[in-house]
Amino acid sequence: MLPEALAQQLKSHGQEHLVQHAAGLAAHEAARFAADIASLDFALLRTLQQSLRSGPPAAPQVIEPLPQLVRGADAAGDSAARVRGEAMLKAGRVAAFVVAGGQGTRLGASGPKGKHPAAAISGASLFQVFAEKLLHRGRKAGRAIPWCVMTSPENDSDTQEFFAQHAFFGLDPNDVLFFQQGTLPALDDAGRLLLRSATALFRSPDGHGGSLRALHQSGALQQLRARGVEQLFYFQVDNPLVDMCDPVFLGRHQLTLSEFSSKAVPKRAADEKVGVLGRLDGAAGVIEYSDLPAHLREARDADGQLRFRAGNIAVHVLDCAFIERFVTGSLQLPWHRARKEIPCFDAAVGNSSRVGTKFELFIFDAMPLAQRIMVMEVERRVEFSPIKNRSGDDSPDSCRRDSMELHACWLERAGFAVPRDATGALAVRVEISPLTALGPEDISALRLQPFTRNQDILL
Ligand code: UD1
Repeated sequence: MLPEALAQQLKSHGQEHLVQHAAGLAAHEAARFAADIASLDFALLRTLQQSLRSGPPAAPQVIEPLPQLVRGADAAGDSAARVRGEAMLKAGRVAAFVVAGGQGTRLGASGPKGKHPAAAISGASLFQVFAEKLLHRGRKAGRAIPWCVMTSPENDSDTQEFFAQHAFFGLDPNDVLFFQQGTLPALDDAGRLLLRSATALFRSPDGHGGSLRALHQSGALQQLRARGVEQLFYFQVDNPLVDMCDPVFLGRHQLTLSEFSSKAVPKRAADEKVGVLGRLDGAAGVIEYSDLPAHLREARDADGQLRFRAGNIAVHVLDCAFIERFVTGSLQLPWHRARKEIPCFDAAVGNSSRVGTKFELFIFDAMPLAQRIMVMEVERRVEFSPIKNRSGDDSPDSCRRDSMELHACWLERAGFAVPRDATGALAVRVEISPLTALGPEDISALRLQPFTRNQDILL
């Protein structure tokens, strides 16, 4: 039996089935179940039920391309932005922030995706690559850059253990702030909560949009503020090419007084499964691949380029003040819903599955709510090669190829001949550690012997 007050609360939210279920449990199980239910936010449950009843959020009526993107490779603008960005880093105003709550299901891996090997020769993990980029960026700035790592209940302990096993990859553990994202219950078509086990509700991660509230609720945001941080450099765990805390991007964000900035790359094809930055009913935002109508996905400008080509690489800068306005005010991100077969517990048959709806929040839905935004177009080959799929595009293989090509290009720009075959393909494997160089500008300072065909280049 459940305590009467809890049973009443469940009934008033259409959850009689849980009261009945609890009645069939042994006393110690019912107590565990009651504790789990007591942690449920009933006001939020009401909101999710309303969202279920009211159907998906209205699709934007008018979808237009963004008028003019800021070019990352505009030399004159770049240097002013770089100076500003470097000053922000030097003054300790910036923290890095990775969303790492996902499980890498598409990749066929279990455990935190950040453990996946990313470096072409050494096999350094995604987390190691990011940590070393931060170390080097911090070295250039003359001070450490704090790093927030958002995990989920599913992978938090695995993630923290991985960092500890690797001595935080050389970072000071005091500069790494772990916090867990929130979870949300799933509902069946009648708005009833699903169970994960006999004594617990089914809950799933609330999406990367949940990071805004989790940053606040975990106290991480307040800790960063106490250290003087004003901007977060946000990135996803799957892209080892990320230009970590890119000073030009940071500087442009501040010079344009943006509250939410994004990087974009031209889509490689109409069917590339990336979100697109555009104007949605007049406000800048991201429309997911699956939500962009097919005729717009294929539409082309007079010069043959895709009309909607600003691919979202999920690299953003967010003002802490914007996040604070968000979490303490009445701004609310829209719920994205996925109706699918959900593995759950059924009192009659035990482990089972049922069609239900999971809810998620997306970070980029905060973009239209910002007072000013900035979008900067960058080169895909330099900044974006995510590891998402087991094979083909956006796989470990394609990422390895892209990073070797990029590192070879840095060497060639600095005047070193990298062995290639007659077709121009690399004849050796190439890897430059982030501790050695963050970009071509760091290569010319290196003293290197000529490279030969029979030896990989590992610097
Ligand atoms: C995402 C973007 C897409 C963009 C693409 C670029 C969404 C909905 N779409 O697609 O617009 O073009 O990246 O690579 O995000 N995560 C959490 N907690 C969660 C869910 C996700 O931390 O609850 C993290 C994952 O660990 C990952 C990132 O968010 O770092 C992206 O999640 P994923 O679901 O893989 O997004 P994509 O479909 O690849």
